[in-house]
Amino acid sequence: MCGIVGYIGKREAAPLLLAGLHRLEYRGYDSAGIALQNGGMPYLKQKGSVGDLQKTYEASPAKMLGATIGIGHTRWATHGDPSDRNSHPHLNADGDIAIIHNGIIENYSLVKQELQAEGYVFQSDTDSEVLVQLIDRIWKSDASLSLEAVVRAALRHVEGAYGLCAISLRDPGKIVVARKGSPLVIGIGEGEYFIASDAAPIVEHTNRVVYLSDGEMAVITRSGYQVRTIENVAMEKDVVELDFSLEKIEKGGYEHFMLKEIFEQPAVMHDVMRGRVRSDEGRVVLGGIEDYLDRLKQAKRIVICACGTSWHAGLIGEYLIEDFARIPVEVDYASEFRYRNPIIGPDDVVIVISQSGETADTLAALRAAKEKGAMVMGICNVVGSTIARETMCGIYTHAGPEVGVASTKAFTAQVIVLYMLALALSKGRTISHDEMRLSLRELSRVPEHASRILELDRQIQEIAASYKDARNFLYLGRGYNFPVALEGALKLKEISYIHAEGYPAAEMKHGPIALIDEDMPVVVIATRDSSYNKILSNIEEVRSRKGRVIAIASEGDAEVARLADHVIYIPQASAQIMPLLTVIPLQLLSYHIATLRGCNVDRPRNLAKSVTVE
Ligand code: AGP
Ligand code: GLU
Repeated sequence: MCGIVGYIGKREAAPLLLAGLHRLEYRGYDSAGIALQNGGMPYLKQKGSVGDLQKTYEASPAKMLGATIGIGHTRWATHGDPSDRNSHPHLNADGDIAIIHNGIIENYSLVKQELQAEGYVFQSDTDSEVLVQLIDRIWKSDASLSLEAVVRAALRHVEGAYGLCAISLRDPGKIVVARKGSPLVIGIGEGEYFIASDAAPIVEHTNRVVYLSDGEMAVITRSGYQVRTIENVAMEKDVVELDFSLEKIEKGGYEHFMLKEIFEQPAVMHDVMRGRVRSDEGRVVLGGIEDYLDRLKQAKRIVICACGTSWHAGLIGEYLIEDFARIPVEVDYASEFRYRNPIIGPDDVVIVISQSGETADTLAALRAAKEKGAMVMGICNVVGSTIARETMCGIYTHAGPEVGVASTKAFTAQVIVLYMLALALSKGRTISHDEMRLSLRELSRVPEHASRILELDRQIQEIAASYKDARNFLYLGRGYNFPVALEGALKLKEISYIHAEGYPAAEMKHGPIALIDEDMPVVVIATRDSSYNKILSNIEEVRSRKGRVIAIASEGDAEVARLADHVIYIPQASAQIMPLLTVIPLQLLSYHIATLRGCNVDRPRNLAKSVTVE
């Protein structure tokens, strides 16, 4: 999620690391830091942007001088607020080992308790710090070990995802890196090497790189590098020649952040579930609400407040929680909730959902609910954001920074969180152990289904070309797919400026049907579920008024193909899972329509990524 850089060579490391961090800042931006090796191990780390860190460095660069080895980090917090002490690098108490980490150590809490029992004192609230303390402990038990040996041994104790860089005065002159789940690239220069989360900070120095794969480590010195698996088997790696523009690299080779974020969804889905979904045990572990779970289960009513796309996720949450946990749920626009004198009290739970965690209306709704004595819980993407801080408990979506103004991966992450929450609320109450296992297993298969849907990109682009000049669109869905219809319509209007409406399919005949003619494309979500036959009738109704139908259907459904002008087939899953899949073709459709119309999809007119005004 964050950005990692490293340098070893003959040049001053600090300015190179800072320049590299600037290039990576789009990956994460709540704090930054560097650690260097000269005679000692000076470091700088602080909350805020890389620009802020640069200013601190420039104010007193002296102690950083003469270092030609160093590592740097821009953080996107997952555990612990963005703050100076939670920033990376993390050092051991002796100050002679420094690490930076990208990812999540799932079992950090257990490892931390073990280390604390042995007398280790932690300086931060991060999961990452256990890595440096573990390395320290292993080294203290055997001082003859190399840096790579202690890193390897430490990694055996941790579960989760990491892109890790370590340096130490106990074994100077090298950087040890390891990768599992978080990317790492080594850039090969003339007598110097660069390390980074992606090629963006490297291309200005060299176009020769080695991409580490999951489960690999590398030891890098001034005279060369060696790659081995974490199990210590030597590897031969190909050197790749880069021919990308810098801008493209920042976007991971994609044309726009929005497209990159759409394509990141399978990986993000894994991240959201990481360490939380335990299908075999039939349970969900949600650390951020553990202490409040009983109170949540006893709620008389749950009220979900949010805006825009997060509100759509909230609607799906309503269906999920009522379906699985049988607790009544209401969903309100945050802006309406706060001004309508809502009936809220201590028996109610108010859940606020916000990608940014800074949306003014959502924040105000949260404060109003708190004032009325309700328990308030948050579902946020940005760790340490105002909403995350002001709620009593919460679940982070761990979707990584979302740069595109149109929310995509944050939405699917929110829906997964709501699915996990609904199951956690059901446990021991409304569903059996077997149902729980089944539902979790279904959820675990979603990333794989999502990857298959993304393969339809070309087909969707072709469909988009036929409709790019339309002036209106109608989106229809029923049940779990009704909020997806709303989300599909919102996506289209915000980035392509085409007017679009989402409707529950059955409502069409109560008004919108009057709009239908040959110029009105209608997107119908017609996957197989309990209202499948009804939705086929809705398609017939559109067809008989010459409307053109783009259908999202379950694989193998020939009936829909007979009725619709275009069919986008997606894998079949249970109704509760379906929104996570049906939304993806709609994201791609709006993306392609907008780009074909020449719109700036990452920065659509009049919109802001985080709406901090009422
Ligand atoms: C989504 O594509 C929009 N740009 C917008 O509706 C957004 O979802 C809304 O402003 C809420 O933002 P939040 O999730 O950060 O609170
Ligand atoms: N989990 C670590 C933290 O919260 C690393 C986050 C990141 O990848 O930036 O500090």
